[in-house]
Amino acid sequence: MEKLKLLDLFSGIGGFSLGLEASGYFEPVAFCEIDTFPQSVLARRFVGVPIYGDIRALTAERLRADGIMVDAICGGFPCQDISVVVLDPFGGSGTTALAAETTERKWILIERDEEYAEKAMARIRDHVLGESHPAPAKKKRTPAALPKPTHEIAQVSLF
Ligand SMILES: C[S@@+](CC[C@H](N)C(=O)[O-])C[C@H]1O[C@@H](n2cnc3c(N)ncnc32)[C@H](O)[C@@H]1O
Repeated sequence: MEKLKLLDLFSGIGGFSLGLEASGYFEPVAFCEIDTFPQSVLARRFVGVPIYGDIRALTAERLRADGIMVDAICGGFPCQDISVVVLDPFGGSGTTALAAETTERKWILIERDEEYAEKAMARIRDHVLGESHPAPAKKKRTPAALPKPTHEIAQVSLF
């Protein structure tokens, strides 16, 4: 059986790749990790597998030029509470990126469908140029509109 060629983004020390490789179905063919310490761990664990640095400079063209073909991508993106960038790996029409723009956060959006990617970029451009898509008005919630706590809800939240 031919293994799926895996690109591991935000690789850290390669935990995802180790697990996926152990499944027997995947073979890591490239890593993308900006930090030098995890890079050194990757280099020791996955001898000869290329490690790219900043994801902002990594493109499909670069991978193709380096002869790297990819079947699957995984990513352990930076934790959002301590991160300065919002990453949406299934970008669709860009709602997450738009929310990030609206709240003045940096963002990275990944979308495989060109039509959706263009739609997303158009929405974001419109927003940046101030043409449309104002931030949605906050809905007021009155105490009466909130669900009454019940025994069942308390049980669900406990377990
Ligand atoms: C949550 S950790 C990933 C952990 C990983 N899944 C593992 O098994 O070790 C996120 C990683 O993203 C890396 N990172 C942050 N910004 C990056 C960037 N611009 N390009 C590439 N890697 C980046 C961090 O250095 C960090 O190692």
